[in-house]
Amino acid sequence: MTDIAKQAAPAATDPGRVLIFDTTLRDGEQSPGATMTHEEKLEIAALLDDMGVDIIEAGFPIASEGDFAAVKAIAERAKNAVICGLARANPTDIDRAWEAVRHAGRPRIHTFIGTSPLHRDITRLTTDQMVERIHATVSHARDLCENVQWSPMDATRTEHDFLCRVVETAIRAGASTINIPDTVGYTAPRESAELIAMLRREVPGAEAIIFATHCHNDLGMATANSLAAVEAGARQIECTINGLGERAGNTALEEVVMALKVRHDIMPYTTGIDTRRIMQASRLVAAVSGFPVQYNKAVVGKNAFAHESGIHQDGMLKNAETFEIMRPEDIGLSATNLVMGKHSGRAALRAKLGELGYTLADNQLADVFVRFKALADRKKEIYDEDLVALMTDTAAGAHQDLVVLRHLRVVCGTDSPQSAEMRLAVDGVEQSTTATGDGPVDATFNAVKALVPHEVRLQLYQVHAVTEGTDAQATVSVRLESGGRLFTGQSADTDTVVASAKAYIVALNKFLAYERAGRPVTDITSAAS
Ligand code: KIV
Ligand code: ZN
Repeated sequence: MTDIAKQAAPAATDPGRVLIFDTTLRDGEQSPGATMTHEEKLEIAALLDDMGVDIIEAGFPIASEGDFAAVKAIAERAKNAVICGLARANPTDIDRAWEAVRHAGRPRIHTFIGTSPLHRDITRLTTDQMVERIHATVSHARDLCENVQWSPMDATRTEHDFLCRVVETAIRAGASTINIPDTVGYTAPRESAELIAMLRREVPGAEAIIFATHCHNDLGMATANSLAAVEAGARQIECTINGLGERAGNTALEEVVMALKVRHDIMPYTTGIDTRRIMQASRLVAAVSGFPVQYNKAVVGKNAFAHESGIHQDGMLKNAETFEIMRPEDIGLSATNLVMGKHSGRAALRAKLGELGYTLADNQLADVFVRFKALADRKKEIYDEDLVALMTDTAAGAHQDLVVLRHLRVVCGTDSPQSAEMRLAVDGVEQSTTATGDGPVDATFNAVKALVPHEVRLQLYQVHAVTEGTDAQATVSVRLESGGRLFTGQSADTDTVVASAKAYIVALNKFLAYERAGRPVTDITSAAS
């Protein structure tokens, strides 16, 4: 096998195989407010690896100590996936990325520079200087790592002759994957296809490398643009779970993967993704990022498989294919509508969680079972969504958090002020207070602030009912802002104020962990060096 074939074995042996490159932990995490903790990143990476993602872009190691540590830990734990770290076009970034990914069984360095006229103005490099820089940095990356990906940022707004020149330079310097980013979501399907076709036709050496497509969704065309690029010969799609990403987001993994599966008749390409894990990944990323999935989102939205109208329901009962182009089970939505309750036993809970994509060891199941029983005491019927919320809370609680809620009692009603009596464990030490506020949630947040003084601004407070009914759990999302950086938390409980306290504390723990780990030293959008 050639070096390139080793790096992308499935694509090398099967011309119709499309590699899935997930950048939820890098481009996705870059979206304001989507900051994730170290443990959350590891949990997402493990799931991506398990579900068959070919390449995981685990982060941007030079950005901060925290980013570096996460990429390194993901690299050390990865079982199958190639682990990739991003680096700008300078030796310091590249060395740092290599330090973080080198522990992976299959490491990759991804280095990039903005090549469009607008970016050349920012970096103040002439075209000749940029070509030199690309040659030097890709060669440097290649000296460290045999698997190097290179991207001309803003490729879709770069002059074609210059784009050919820089792509050729990167190939000559040793890049084996050339990624073509539509950084600002500007291209359209036909143009996306033509660009890949033009590069494959015009650039010497193009036949020996893999072209990747990396689309942003500013005009809602990211999925279409990615698929068009594949039809023109790209064999790697860069995407994120739920389309998470800056502005309107990136190409959504679930959309491209399911489109290729459902329309295999006209797009004869395959991926290695176990699509039955899609829903689990979607829920995990929504919970961790604090970015809820819109109800009518393709594939993973709450309503994507809901059929309300009489005509639809009638058709569905006679033959599900009347209105469904994919089966809910294909994306991991539970096949049965078994509702759980307080009489459900451990075995039923294990089976149900298995259907939802959670495999638990006996001790973990014992833990979850206690929480499940507590919930069932307060809520008659437990739906899939309740269990997912429970699992998300359990995962959040499993981390070594600085601040843990021990007790909360609020007094509310028509007479103000409302008050909250609270006990927290802060770094293992229990502390109590009573605070008042303008309503029970305000009083609760004031109590947290009294026990753990901190300077943040509450930027978002949102409540959603998980299911219907007055005993429904509420999912609360909280977003805190400090120095332009956002920290999100989410939690669910049948008591909205308890859910609010827990969500606030999740976000606060992220802020405190970030303060302890040190602020990022650089920003991806800044110049190349
Ligand atoms: O959108 C973009 O151009 C990127 C690059 C860093 C690949 O994310
Ligand atoms: Zn991007």
